[in-house]
Amino acid sequence: MYTLKHPLLVTVLLVCFGTAPVFAADMAAGEQKAATCMGCHGPKGKSSSAQWPNLAAQQGLYLVNQLKAFKAGTRNNPMMQSMAANLSDDDINNLAAYYSSQPAVSAGADATLAKTGQPKATMCLGCHGSSGEGNGQFPRLAGQHPNYLVKQLSNFKEGERKNGHMQAIAGNLSEEEMKILAAYFGSL
Ligand code: HEC
Ligand code: HEC
Repeated sequence: MYTLKHPLLVTVLLVCFGTAPVFAADMAAGEQKAATCMGCHGPKGKSSSAQWPNLAAQQGLYLVNQLKAFKAGTRNNPMMQSMAANLSDDDINNLAAYYSSQPAVSAGADATLAKTGQPKATMCLGCHGSSGEGNGQFPRLAGQHPNYLVKQLSNFKEGERKNGHMQAIAGNLSEEEMKILAAYFGSL
């Protein structure tokens, strides 16, 4: 059996890989590339309209997955598909590193709707994080534009956007439930 005789080496490796980002990326190159995204997604990923999701503080792995899905055509949106078609894997990693490290923003929401949505939202927190902050493949929902969140939930429900977990969950939500959940997360 192979045994490691150098505990110091093991420690060094653990320190390096334990704290390293999931992908190697060049944040400065990401920032430069993001100039082509700013017209819609706003400066530093803070968008001014619910048509365009905030990207600021979004999970890096989730951003990578979505850009690859648009590029492969498995997530359907003509605008984003044509944007992603020209991105290399390096561009995608760099953009994800840049946006995921920008300060979080809050789109805000109707306070009454948000309060109604809070109890229902507990069923989402196991995957999306106790404050809706996301985790890896699970996107941040906190501070996202409520109308964008509603649109994605209906896309999952109608099967226009594919994801096993989310299609099952959204399939059981009424329009009203989508609205109050989206308001709750948007208000964070
Ligand atoms: C012309 C407007 C436009 C431009 C420019 C644009 N986007 Fe988008 N983007 C959109 C729209 C619209 C959506 C929402 C698509 C949907 O409804 O599914 C979106 C969605 C996304 C998403 C998914 C976010 C989420 O929460 O799931 C990512 C990631 C993204 N864009 C990244 C980028 C990057 C990176 C660039 C620049 C290389 C870019 N976009 C340029 C319009 C744009
Ligand atoms: C079992 C885990 C799980 C649970 C529970 C869950 N989600 Fe998700 N959710 C996901 C995953 C995974 C994705 C990313 C799908 C993809 O990659 O396209 C996602 C994506 C989303 C998106 C798209 C976000 C964006 O930026 O486009 C919304 C909106 C969403 N979830 C809302 C909810 C709500 C509301 C609940 C509770 C009612 C919930 N989710 C519960 C796993 C989960």
